Amino acid sequence: MMDGETFELGLRGIVPDERDQIARRLSEWCDSEELDLLLTTGGTGLGPRDVTPEATRQVLDVEAPGIAEAMRAQTLASTPLAMLSRSTSGVRSGCLIVNLPGSPKAVRECLGVALPALPHALEMVKGWRTH
Ligand code: MTE
Repeated sequence: MMDGETFELGLRGIVPDERDQIARRLSEWCDSEELDLLLTTGGTGLGPRDVTPEATRQVLDVEAPGIAEAMRAQTLASTPLAMLSRSTSGVRSGCLIVNLPGSPKAVRECLGVALPALPHALEMVKGWRTH
């Protein structure tokens, strides 16, 4: 849940690199928990086991690709590796899902780009909520 500019960590978990397991976890948490924001980390690259974007798209009500695009575009200035992430973002049951790359450094860089837009995004996303 978000209160002003601070976030409270609700749930945290690790899921194997299996598309169906990732999709199930994402939909369960978005549908049944009072989460505003669900961040994934890892599994967005070009390897055969990098299936997080596909699992995410599978469960989204609407895709919001601009968040992931902005993370790639802005961090590309500091590392060409930013272009290797296929991350996406979007809304499921009033919860905003954002894919982040796996390395802690990449997470810091990408979250730094997304954070300023999150308060407004989360207000809008609530409109989808049925629970
Ligand atoms: N984005 C930023 N900002 N900084 C990084 O260091 N690493 C990249 C990319 N995005 C990186 C980044 C690398 S090396 C890969 S392989 C892809 O994210 C995908 O990472 P993932 O498979 O761990 O999700």
